[in-house]
Amino acid sequence: MGAKLSVNLNKVALLRNARTIGIPSVVRAAEVCIEAGAHGITVHPRPDERHIRRQDVFDLAEALKAAPEVEFNIEGNPFPEFMELVLKVKPTQCTLVPDSPEAFTSDHGWDLKAEGERLKPIINQLKQEGIRTSLFMETDPEQIGLARTVGADRVELYTEPYAASFARGVRVEETLEAFRHAAEKAQSVWLGVNAGHDLNLQNLGLFCSIPNIMEVSIGHALISDALEMGLANTVRAYLKVLDEAEMEETGASRALAS
Ligand code: PXP
Repeated sequence: MGAKLSVNLNKVALLRNARTIGIPSVVRAAEVCIEAGAHGITVHPRPDERHIRRQDVFDLAEALKAAPEVEFNIEGNPFPEFMELVLKVKPTQCTLVPDSPEAFTSDHGWDLKAEGERLKPIINQLKQEGIRTSLFMETDPEQIGLARTVGADRVELYTEPYAASFARGVRVEETLEAFRHAAEKAQSVWLGVNAGHDLNLQNLGLFCSIPNIMEVSIGHALISDALEMGLANTVRAYLKVLDEAEMEETGASRALAS
């Protein structure tokens, strides 16, 4: 199995919040993504509810009961209200992100030297409820190693630096190499590797040449593409890129083995 696609629906909620008449529906968007083959749904409820609201999280959890194979991923900084919500909803995965409430978007990974001890009991609590924990991380191998020691199951690599370098066409291989190295470090200590932020139809295939990426969570670009291509077609287009990346990866490892 190649990387799973988890569609982040924040931007659907942002559009919905521009009026008070409930359209577009976040739940309907999730259903369309799932019908088109998405493996997961991601939301990032922020304290100010500027896009996803608490109620969306409950509504999505209810809707996803009809599709138990679909993974529900809730992202956020583990403030008490966030943790209360996550422990009530019990998603498949909780991705912990160190963003401040006023952050425009997530813009850095955890510093586990400074915050690791604080996160340990939080991760433990999630584990006891059967919720997989992923930590949003940059590529520093030492920090990645610490993710294991604080009890995380996975890391989500913060891909903005890769996406920026891809967009500029500057030092792409070098940047990708840092991510490849980070993924190898994570896998060597039995952490699963997810990835997200600013991934899009153009840069996704090359990123997924890194072996064994388990999940990519994509929102902004995917929802923007949907304005042009329609949501279902867009999800299918992203899945095709992931399938092709997997085929290339499988081909490369066969060639290495022969
Ligand atoms: N991962 C995390 C932790 C995020 O905060 C976000 C944005 O909400 C994403 C992935 C998805 O990023 P994008 O919207 O750029 O695809």
